Amino acid sequence: MNAAIRAVVRTALYYNVKVTGIFRGYDGMISGDFVPMDRKSVGNIIQRGGTILKTARSDEFRTKEGRKKAYDQLKRQKIDALVAIGGDGTFTGANIFYDEYKVPVIGLPGTIDNDLLGTDFTIGYDTAINTVIDAVDKIRDTAESHDRLFIVEVMGRDSGLIALRSGIGTGAEAILIPETKTDIKALLARLEVSRKDKSSKIIIVAEGDDAGGAFEIAEKVKEKFPLIDTRVSVLGHIQRGGAPSCMDRVLASRLGVASVESLLEGRCGEMIGIVSGKIHFTPFEMAIKHNTDVNMELLRIVEILSL
Ligand code: F6P
Repeated sequence: MNAAIRAVVRTALYYNVKVTGIFRGYDGMISGDFVPMDRKSVGNIIQRGGTILKTARSDEFRTKEGRKKAYDQLKRQKIDALVAIGGDGTFTGANIFYDEYKVPVIGLPGTIDNDLLGTDFTIGYDTAINTVIDAVDKIRDTAESHDRLFIVEVMGRDSGLIALRSGIGTGAEAILIPETKTDIKALLARLEVSRKDKSSKIIIVAEGDDAGGAFEIAEKVKEKFPLIDTRVSVLGHIQRGGAPSCMDRVLASRLGVASVESLLEGRCGEMIGIVSGKIHFTPFEMAIKHNTDVNMELLRIVEILSL
């Protein structure tokens, strides 16, 4: 997100547009937590995780009164357009706010889950999956040395896209995701036939999988195979932090530039993404529809490669 903030600020200044940062998202908009931003204010942040502007989930912005306060603060500050970085909650709020107050908003897709429609990748996803593969590579050292099966739970409350790519990237035996019905019997059967000479086995499960989290799945595996030394590792919030990958920095930079340029061209109410290498606009109401379109080809190759 910092790389996106940097790109938005520097592009606006390039076009002689004044820029104000809003702390803690909609909460800060309501309380007037604003800061003027210059070129230097976004120096030395492209490599930093998190967001220098902080973030919050705002309950007050869900109310009419909250949004009225936010609008009054924007007027007071003479802010006449917004760039909102976030996921479905951010864009849902932006859409309602535009309907009520006609403040133009352009959205940038910022979520590690990669589950927005209208972009091949969201800002943060590439860094998150690289964090996962780094962690699982390390876990595999224990798995290998002790001949263990590890069930690794990754983030993705509603989306299996982190699990899918990191599972392929770590050579997992199986990947369990919320978009497809998890068949525990089939998983157990698969473990039964999997090569006995394999010294380490990894199953990647998305936290939102319908069969439950990693601990529940481990219980079922232990019941059926008490002799398999099974362990669980829940990776948690390490997936949301750390220095962004080069892919994420470039993506955020491209989208940040495009957000300001498109506002200047009079566009609004859209999320900017990149589809097949090109800048792509998607109306907010489409973007927030969860991307449940899992590439079945990726799941199929796991079946082949994990034998
Ligand atoms: O951004 C979405 C997400 O990454 C989900 O996959 C995950 O469940 C959630 O964030 C966890 O964040 P928090 O603990 O802050 O609610």
